[in-house]
Amino acid sequence: MSKDLPFDPERREWLGKLTTAVGAAGIAGACWPLIRSMNPTVDVVAKANTEVDLAAIPPGKVETVAWQGKPVFVLHRTPEEIAAMAASSGVKDPQPDAARVQKPEWLVVVGICTHLGCVPNRNENGWLCPCHGSVYDNSGRILRGPAPRNLEVPAYKFIAAGKIIIGKT
Ligand code: FES
Repeated sequence: MSKDLPFDPERREWLGKLTTAVGAAGIAGACWPLIRSMNPTVDVVAKANTEVDLAAIPPGKVETVAWQGKPVFVLHRTPEEIAAMAASSGVKDPQPDAARVQKPEWLVVVGICTHLGCVPNRNENGWLCPCHGSVYDNSGRILRGPAPRNLEVPAYKFIAAGKIIIGKT
């Protein structure tokens, strides 16, 4: 500052504020890539949820989809299967069928045996684990064999009339 210019406290204060603002913007800009890198990638978000088109699964059929690296069985139950499951509460791990489904015609369960983690095979009455013979019904409830619990029901929701999304959304 020249000795010829008068001291201007307002100008000095304004320059101080400007310098602070520019500095803060610079720090924020420098940190943004780091902050962004902490968000999950699009791939990871996609794997966290799995969308299933129910229109492609006819009554009586099951589709196995992948969700977070696990198989998930989506069974389109027939009226006879619904009635049979509503009439029982399971054997080893009793649970009403209504507590395991959001809509009676759709059963959604993780396809991993609760004994030692094999993938059960579908049969006309439910699933049979090929490893040690655990038997699950059409509600995914354990009927007999060494498995201690029913097949897990994952978080899912109906996002449209014919679609569900598996995973927490
Ligand atoms: Fe299924 Fe053992 S892993 S019965």
